[in-house]
Amino acid sequence: MNDPEIINLNNSTFRRLISAKEIEEKIALLAQQIRKDMGNAEVPVFLCILKGAFVFAADLVRNYDGLCELQFLRLSSYSGTDSTGEVKAYPGLDTDKLKGRRVVIVEDIVDTGLSMNYLLKDLRKYKPRTLDVAALFTKPSRLCHDVKVDYSCFEIPDAFIVGYGLDYDGLYRNLPAIYVKE
Ligand code: IMP
Repeated sequence: MNDPEIINLNNSTFRRLISAKEIEEKIALLAQQIRKDMGNAEVPVFLCILKGAFVFAADLVRNYDGLCELQFLRLSSYSGTDSTGEVKAYPGLDTDKLKGRRVVIVEDIVDTGLSMNYLLKDLRKYKPRTLDVAALFTKPSRLCHDVKVDYSCFEIPDAFIVGYGLDYDGLYRNLPAIYVKE
């Protein structure tokens, strides 16, 4: 899909807020900044928060000019069980791989900060050496939890956005730019 200024989908009109090119440029700069901060000896673990951050994480790691690992985590209100019947907090996440490592949480958007606040506290139990947050978007006017976002691409006003991985009711994740519903 390309990124026109106005699109009509599902009987709703969406206006483009940030173009695909602007996103691409910001992510390239962000990847360079993280690379610089990591230095040559580090192999960071990028931890992509599903589902919304999948596009951002894919572009971030492809712009990261150095060795890195990528892991995925799904925040959900329920926990899965593995074959032994043991309850796993994060099915699919190899938590042993976080110990002693420089971990960068890759999130689509920090809105009120509720999820990130929880995640930061919870992931510390796996003993990463450092735990940073890279968010594509922050909504500073909505933030009401004590969350430090170390790397952020765009600060946006209090509006509900879709596209570039972000959805509304499961739709619009495939839009290449960021849109607001009119
Ligand atoms: P928080 O816990 O209030 O910070 O909310 C974070 C999560 O809410 C994000 O990871 C998104 O999944 C979702 N979210 C918040 N704002 C938006 C938005 O404008 N568009 C799409 N999803 C959003």
